[in-house]
Amino acid sequence: MGYRILTLNNIARKGLERLPPDHYEVAAGIANPHAILVRSADMHSMEIPASVVAVGRAGAGTNNIPVSGLTQRGIPVFNAPGANANAVKELVLAGLFLAARHICGSWQFVRELKGDAAAIETAVERGKKRFVGHELPGRTLGVIGLGAIGVEVANAAHLLGMHVLGFDPEITVQRAWQLSSGVEQALSLEDLFARSDFVTVHVPLLDSTRSMVNAKRIRLMRKGATILNFARAAIVDEADILAALDSARLAAYVCDFPTPGSKDHPGVVALPHLGASTNEAEENSAMMVADTLRDFLENGNIRHSVNFPEAALPRIADTARIAIANSNVPNMVGQISTRLAEAGLNIADLLNKSKGEVAYTLIDIDGQVPAGLVGRIAAIQGVLSARAV
Ligand SMILES: NC(=O)c1ccc[n+]([C@@H]2O[C@H](COP(=O)([O-])OP(=O)(O)OC[C@H]3O[C@@H](n4cnc5c(N)ncnc54)[C@H](O)[C@@H]3O)[C@@H](O)[C@H]2O)c1
Repeated sequence: MGYRILTLNNIARKGLERLPPDHYEVAAGIANPHAILVRSADMHSMEIPASVVAVGRAGAGTNNIPVSGLTQRGIPVFNAPGANANAVKELVLAGLFLAARHICGSWQFVRELKGDAAAIETAVERGKKRFVGHELPGRTLGVIGLGAIGVEVANAAHLLGMHVLGFDPEITVQRAWQLSSGVEQALSLEDLFARSDFVTVHVPLLDSTRSMVNAKRIRLMRKGATILNFARAAIVDEADILAALDSARLAAYVCDFPTPGSKDHPGVVALPHLGASTNEAEENSAMMVADTLRDFLENGNIRHSVNFPEAALPRIADTARIAIANSNVPNMVGQISTRLAEAGLNIADLLNKSKGEVAYTLIDIDGQVPAGLVGRIAAIQGVLSARAV
């Protein structure tokens, strides 16, 4: 069977290569697509064709996609969580070095030197003592949020010889498996701040994380500590950070979020939101979402969806599969099984998972899916979408 994929933005070539041309027609402006691939195009005012069974976002955020409307139609939205984790990790490591060796201030000092070679050499020898730095091994880094990015930062800092403290009360089992055993669990945020020379935040911006780096917590830190923020601007209280820099309680604030108040402060290194800005991060996102979209179209499996549960079953020889999205209400599986029994079908395997208001069922039956069965299942009240795969 061939699949048609509508692209709303340019998608990295490496991602498109994951959709083989003998089975996939991928283009902008394609009619009646099975799926849509998007990066930043705003889909909120778009008429999404009835043929669409999935939407893939080559990136992390899905603000440009009408997720709840798609959920009601039984359409999963896939994204690429963690595809940019290495890109952000590398910039955070750069931030540690920028701060520890006063690289930005010393670079600025050199750029302002005047005169001939001898004059510059004299000025360099005189000026360099202002920029004496320190090394990282033996220093403590506190990592708040051990998700895709935080785990990579923690592991890399540990390999650099730092003592690493981590704090994440809701760490997933998958991330816990990835975390180096050398990373120590902090007992609380206060414990982490009190024992860290550097603190880096890798949490989403939520009511519970807004201003989590504030004067009260900075006061717990060692004098001359550094805060790194490559998550979201509002996770730190900027006024508190600037006051702590002015009083020399903090030595540096390294972030990805310049503001009028912070960008020229001598203690601030603000980068222009570069965390995920690498060619590789874009390619990783496109490859990841192309893979998940393909597995959904060909096998009905769901991985990395923002609105549907993870649900994947290996394929069994000589069976056919029906994939059903339904409201998460009682007796759905019972009604679906009744339709199968009425058709005299034997279930070889069944998986039913739920997430919030929706559930998703994969059913493998011996033999073929008889004509009309998918339509009869789709007609059950509460079934949002059904298809044979
Ligand atoms: N600078 C950039 O360009 C850039 C790029 C990508 C992501 N980000 C930001 O980085 C954040 C982290 O990204 P990720 O991919 O690692 O996300 P993720 O969802 O994989 O991880 C976030 C982690 O934070 C934890 N967490 C939530 N609330 C917490 C709290 N109060 N205390 C401690 N831990 C808490 C969660 O349990 C989760 O493990 C994103 O939310 C985004 O805002 C920035």
